[in-house]
Amino acid sequence: MISLAVNETIARAVEVLRENDHGDYTIPTKGLYPFQWNWDSCLTALGLAHYDEARAWTEIETLFAHQWPDGMVPHIVFHVLNDSYFPGPEVWRTNRPTATSGITQPAVAGFAVRRLFDRAKDKNLAAERARALLPKIDAWHRWFYENRDPRDEGLVAIIHPWESGRDNSIDWDDAFERVPTEGVEPYTRRDTLHADPAHRPTKAQYDRYLWLLQHFRALGWDNAKLHDASPFRIVDPGFNAILIRSAADLADLAKTLGEMGIADANRSRAQKGLSAMERLWSDTYGQYLCLDRATGTLVDSASVGGILPVFSAIPKPRIAAIAATIERIAGKARYIVPSHDLDDPRFDAKRYWRGPVWLVVNYMIADGLAAAGFADVARHISQSSLDLIADSGFAEYYDPLSGEPLGGGRFTWTAAMVIEFLKGER
Ligand code: GLC
Repeated sequence: MISLAVNETIARAVEVLRENDHGDYTIPTKGLYPFQWNWDSCLTALGLAHYDEARAWTEIETLFAHQWPDGMVPHIVFHVLNDSYFPGPEVWRTNRPTATSGITQPAVAGFAVRRLFDRAKDKNLAAERARALLPKIDAWHRWFYENRDPRDEGLVAIIHPWESGRDNSIDWDDAFERVPTEGVEPYTRRDTLHADPAHRPTKAQYDRYLWLLQHFRALGWDNAKLHDASPFRIVDPGFNAILIRSAADLADLAKTLGEMGIADANRSRAQKGLSAMERLWSDTYGQYLCLDRATGTLVDSASVGGILPVFSAIPKPRIAAIAATIERIAGKARYIVPSHDLDDPRFDAKRYWRGPVWLVVNYMIADGLAAAGFADVARHISQSSLDLIADSGFAEYYDPLSGEPLGGGRFTWTAAMVIEFLKGER
């Protein structure tokens, strides 16, 4: 009976993935996001692998085919023309053979590729495909530390909220005060045609997203200049944890495949990042906080970005404290893990990254907790995720209080994560 329901849920998730499949890449959802997104694709590959391993490798290879010569992997690849999304290629003007955006996204590829390899039924195929991706992912990691950690502090900064993947988090509010809006070219948003404006970022935030974009464009998208020239430079613990986990996973995979140079370089990136991460710990909140690199201060904002570090090999007492924080939050939210602490007056149950639950984040948190031996909290998170699907379908994100589905529907990475929660072995 139970396994019948499981099989049916997996079949429905596969249906979503197939609907959004464009042959060699998958769009996040129709209308709202009609191109290829960086971390969406890497996490989606895990879901694809359950029914087509070759197709899963292709998903990541397609993304890396559009890596920049300096090593950056852009956050969007505009494979086709489609005016249902703004800002499109005519705004970014990055001057690439295939149009891309000019900023990046969380570096989850190293983790995804290792997981694909470890689970592969066809080991020869996996070794061949992984070997070709290794130097590309390594170049991306090198790019991060060279361009986003120019003072060699061990942690990288994001220079645009969209890079974090948590677009309108409360974490960015204070730093955003420093971002001007003068000179922003007139524009028409498209996202609000596809999703309820009350569930999306505000106009004031969009103005600043676009100011930063225009500022970087005026600097010719030269990454050697952008970090220091950006008024927005935030060290996000979640973003760094994903990069650290990917570096550690890439190191292990490279070792297995006999690529010792890549293994050593990534092992030391991961170690350095882990010790630098301590600087971001908050005893008050029982989790990590963002660091505003422009002011040198921690950001007073308890978001899921500070819980995500359990995805990397942080010290066990930190993991235990974060597990307790999650359980405390679970006492107030029907579904976990909300993207922001409910005790914060700025918490908003429906507005994108200011409160709602996102399954990709749940997946990474549960994965880290399970690996560190916190099986009960991990199980609680997977169960909450599956309850949301059962109650509300494959939405982009969910209200942690009511479970209401929010944002785009028939969402690719949500479907991929459901398959992972139901089938993936940890
Ligand atoms: C939104 C999300 C981002 C995601 C993208 C495509 O911008 O904030 O994390 O990658 O949509 O799904």
